[in-house]
Amino acid sequence: MCGIVGYVGDKNAYPILIKGLHRLEYRGYDSAGVAMISDEGRLNVYKTKGKVSALEHYAENKDISGTIGIAHTRWATHGEPNDLNAHPHYSENGSIALIHNGIIENYGVIKTMLSEKGYTFRSDTDTEVLVQFIAYLRAENHCTLFEAVQAALNQVIGAYAIAVLDKDNRDEIIAARKSSPLVVGIGEGEYFLASDATPICEYVKDVVYLNDGEIAIINRHKPLKVYNLNNIESKIDIRKIEMNISELEKGGYPHFMLKEIFEQPRTITDCIRGRINLEGTNVILSGILDNKDKFLNARRIIFVACGTSWHAGLIGEYLFEDLCGIEVKVEYASEFRYRNPVIQPGDVVIAISQSGETADTLAAIELAKSKGAFVYGICNVVGSSIARATHSGTYIHVGPEIGVASTKAFTGQVTVLVMMAMVIAEMKGRISKDKYEAVLRELLAMPESIKHILAQHEHIKDIAAIFTYARNFLYLGRGYNYPTAMEGALKLKEISYIHAEGCPAAEMKHGTIALIDNEMPTIVIATNGSVYEKTISNIQEIKARGGKVIAVVNEGDEIVSKMADYCICVPSVEECLTPLLSSIPLQLFAYYIAVNKGRNVDQPRNLAKSVTVE
Ligand code: G6P
Repeated sequence: MCGIVGYVGDKNAYPILIKGLHRLEYRGYDSAGVAMISDEGRLNVYKTKGKVSALEHYAENKDISGTIGIAHTRWATHGEPNDLNAHPHYSENGSIALIHNGIIENYGVIKTMLSEKGYTFRSDTDTEVLVQFIAYLRAENHCTLFEAVQAALNQVIGAYAIAVLDKDNRDEIIAARKSSPLVVGIGEGEYFLASDATPICEYVKDVVYLNDGEIAIINRHKPLKVYNLNNIESKIDIRKIEMNISELEKGGYPHFMLKEIFEQPRTITDCIRGRINLEGTNVILSGILDNKDKFLNARRIIFVACGTSWHAGLIGEYLFEDLCGIEVKVEYASEFRYRNPVIQPGDVVIAISQSGETADTLAAIELAKSKGAFVYGICNVVGSSIARATHSGTYIHVGPEIGVASTKAFTGQVTVLVMMAMVIAEMKGRISKDKYEAVLRELLAMPESIKHILAQHEHIKDIAAIFTYARNFLYLGRGYNYPTAMEGALKLKEISYIHAEGCPAAEMKHGTIALIDNEMPTIVIATNGSVYEKTISNIQEIKARGGKVIAVVNEGDEIVSKMADYCICVPSVEECLTPLLSSIPLQLFAYYIAVNKGRNVDQPRNLAKSVTVE
């Protein structure tokens, strides 16, 4: 939710800032802006509604000189997305500019106080209130920009990652964070600043992740200094980033989403690499082994997550109950955090998050910790807030996911959950040797199985072309494939804007079946397994009402393939692994429908990749 970039050094700031904004555009794309101190010492602020390309167009023929600047791409929270509400915002006297990711909750009181003192406001945003407040405190206290920012943040309630520029100091950016991520890249005589490492990794490898409540003084002539709100200096913890630039490019695909779907054979390989012994006989997850007692004695596992990660949690429920015999709850983080959930000794909370920055999931983790739970994280982004806030965890290691609709992160999350369940089930003596070996064998073969499905992309594209007309879709699945059906429906909604519902196949007859007619197609996941026959009855119920059925079946299926209007085949695997395969055609199906409808697949309307506000 909103992307922040900053640069100070000896290069021209503008191209670095714009490139950085493009890399962060997945975080928000309602409006974009940049503030730079020009070679003549002017503070130039250019901002406009729309995407980063609109900003580039707007800034053409304007003064884009200067070696220090900050830039922002916005996902609107306060105030509609327009030119005025776009960031950066600047103080009334035009000397201080600020960009912000987050929400200032008590902006109303501060605005009233400033208005009474004669300040006027151009926008509807909480951010403009913050920059005016900083300017006010600076004038009142005759202090430095750093001191004014510190004083302001001590009075602010809310979430923020901010970067602030002062026209009269061409050497320095002040940056601070609370609940929204911020990372500083350290180069030779230059610094980079961003919401995540993607805009930075092509320039430097050394980074510092700011912690909550920290303020950084980023001065081109001085070492990085970080203080907390009480002015105590923090130790600088320099980390290395391993991100590769080619991972951030589309690599010949028309969209990041398609690239990420097709990357899955490799990302699953990366996810399991180093976690299965050389002989291919054992899964080794250090996060579980280091906390063996916690998992062996777990009375209950509670998953907290949002969106696609929540669907992965639902699959975790089937896995951990089925393989490990542990009671499981799956919670929307946003609901969990505002209830008074009962956490008892022996409860293990597992937070799942691609970005590792989702505000609701982070808050759920803090709540669970405050109630004494052991909290384990499953994240993709290394060094993210959730990865750091949890007691231990396992990274999914699928590389940067740029498409807003999650694909490879989902299969990475499920892969980690399968491996976790296998390790715990083995520790508890709940899985037979044969079953363990069969699951492991098929897990190792998963990249090949996925390739096999991807090879059918033209067939899936053809089916998508037939159904692009539909205004509603139903997705059905049972058992392990019920969460997959939910995820398939979410993919379609997110990128095609077609209404879609995921439903447990048998539950359909308690309401949803009323919607079935020849204009509402149903996608049914009917792979072999304990509920195959039951699913056949559900397909008959749909056909009897004139509904069209697209079925995801196993190769060689003879029953469903005769009943369904269209079939997509996936290899047959152990039931607990089916979501890893059935989800792939659903990703492709949603993708092709969205493309047919002319949607912006990578940046669907109203969505953001990372939701760092409530
Ligand atoms: C946003 C994204 C979804 C994602 C959800 C949770 O809504 O658009 O794709 O599933 O956040 O994100 P997380 O990073 O916590 O997995």
